[in-house]
Amino acid sequence: MAETIKPHGGVLINRLATGEAREALLKQAGTLRSLTITTWTLSDLDLIAIGAFSPLTGFLEESDYRSVVDRMRLADGTVWSIPITLPIEEALANELSVGEQVALKGEDGVTYAILDVRSIYRVNLQDEAVKVFKTSDPEHPGVQKLLQRSPVYIGGPVQVLNRPKPDKFQDYYFDPAETRKRFVQNGWKTVVGFQTRNPVHRAHEYIQKTALEIVDALFLNPLVGETKSDDISADVRMKSYLVLLDNYYPKQRVFLGVFPAAMRYAGPREAIFHAMVRKNYGCTHFIVGRDHAGVGDYYGTYEAQEIFKNFTAEELGITPLFFEHSFFCTKCGNMATTKTCPHDKNHHLHLSGTKVRGLLRDGVCPPAEFTRPEVAKVLIDGMAEGVVQGSVNP
Ligand code: ADX
Repeated sequence: MAETIKPHGGVLINRLATGEAREALLKQAGTLRSLTITTWTLSDLDLIAIGAFSPLTGFLEESDYRSVVDRMRLADGTVWSIPITLPIEEALANELSVGEQVALKGEDGVTYAILDVRSIYRVNLQDEAVKVFKTSDPEHPGVQKLLQRSPVYIGGPVQVLNRPKPDKFQDYYFDPAETRKRFVQNGWKTVVGFQTRNPVHRAHEYIQKTALEIVDALFLNPLVGETKSDDISADVRMKSYLVLLDNYYPKQRVFLGVFPAAMRYAGPREAIFHAMVRKNYGCTHFIVGRDHAGVGDYYGTYEAQEIFKNFTAEELGITPLFFEHSFFCTKCGNMATTKTCPHDKNHHLHLSGTKVRGLLRDGVCPPAEFTRPEVAKVLIDGMAEGVVQGSVNP
């Protein structure tokens, strides 16, 4: 098979137990102490299992955790910006010892994995919030989630016995091994990854297509894990992506696959994390636009781009493509950024997310220069649940 970009850390991790080994581990799991994990942790677990979080083989042990929080690197120096951790109730932590194994069960009672307990440690959640999110404001949606967790973590490698079954978008779930294979089969040498938790508006389309001018393909990889309640639902978004791709994108050069991770809203640090993960999926390039993974006014418009300066091109492996704030300019008559448009701000169409959501809720299409009419229609209709069918992938 042709060479693709190396996964982060060099090897695509696979922690899925199969066949007889899995059977034996399932039996063994029945004899172990068990811990019930949240759907958020289950999503992390699955992403570890399939190598999306390579080189992680489990939840962070203390030395890696401290190193990630303090310097955005694992203890061995590998770039890693978001702590992937497993909180545990204090009472249970007191019963556990390092060296033991514990079964990880979902809220549905299914045993998903066995974790080798290598580390049990107490953290300072405020400190983690300030370093990872650059704020300890409990109003920040990521900080809010963090502060609800127990300050005691356990870490160690996992062996995954079952995977959560997606109840939607089944046709659009691809493990990194699969996307890598598909990209090669399609003859793509360069693929740009695009993270989004929103419908694709004209600004998104503009930066994607500008990137498409210089790479072979676009991997549209919307995040469909946990998001904050006022973000547009993944159901509606998926419908909007399909209608957009169908009407406006070159079918042979776009691949749509979901990213079943939780959104942290950690801005700059999450941009690094998003880029590393997309490298694992086989992307050679990654788009970082304005306020990537940001929320409210917690981060500067281009902070998520500036943070990349902390790392060398070799350490990152994937090439970030930075885009300035893009907009429709009425005088240019097209999409632009301040890099390409000489006109005054009065000619630039700017609509806030809140304003757009308001229009959609009232059944009003935002201007076509902001959102394609087909997308606007889906968003208006589909505030109700949508069923996604068929596949658009080459
Ligand atoms: S994110 O939280 O998933 O990053 P969003 O879906 O809004 O949010 O953005 C997806 C990507 O598009 C990010 O890289 C973001 O920086 C970029 N982006 C969003 N809007 C614009 C814009 N108007 N101009 C340039 N880049 C943008």
